[in-house]
Amino acid sequence: MQIRTFEFECDLETVLDLWAKSEQGIHLGRSDEPQEILKKIKRDPDLFLIAEDEGSIIGAVMGGFDGRREKIYHLAVDSRYRKKGIGRALMEELEQRLRSKGCLKYYLLVKEGNQEAMAFYKRMGCSVMDLYILGKELV
Ligand SMILES: CC(C)(COP(=O)(O)OP(=O)(O)OC[C@H]1O[C@@H](n2cnc3c(N)ncnc32)[C@H](O)[C@@H]1OP(=O)(O)O)[C@@H](O)C(=O)NCCC(=O)NCCS
Repeated sequence: MQIRTFEFECDLETVLDLWAKSEQGIHLGRSDEPQEILKKIKRDPDLFLIAEDEGSIIGAVMGGFDGRREKIYHLAVDSRYRKKGIGRALMEELEQRLRSKGCLKYYLLVKEGNQEAMAFYKRMGCSVMDLYILGKELV
């Protein structure tokens, strides 16, 4: 298994399929349209990571650093490869890349009821923050 940077042309279709199959854990929306992914990776190309095993994509995670905080999106591991340390390997590589950019802290969202992800992120050292999340659709 190796961790590498996402490549738009050759990886997009497989990664979208992986996310779509990730049960309730990942909601795909308009920000996951190909043109939006392309827009996103123009900003942080090295923070979108793939886990690959013998040429097959088995995991992915997308990070975004705004110069102050990182947001982590859409971590997923193929259900046949879970509980083998691949999610941890993706997160540790992302954390390493973030440290090297001077990032001090990251945030991520977990859907209510996603106990699997909660257990995973707690093992990764994350804690629940006492905050409300507010959002607004533009356009
Ligand atoms: C969450 C997810 C990415 C974890 O990936 P994974 O490769 O199975 O995780 P790892 O094997 O690297 O596990 C890392 C640690 O978390 C723990 N862990 C992972 N899944 C767990 C679970 N369901 N319950 C309890 N602990 C769990 C492991 O035991 C391991 O602990 P350790 O390193 O201290 O021994 C994977 O379950 C997944 O893709 N879920 C569906 C998509 C999703 O919900 N993504 C999160 C979006 S917010």
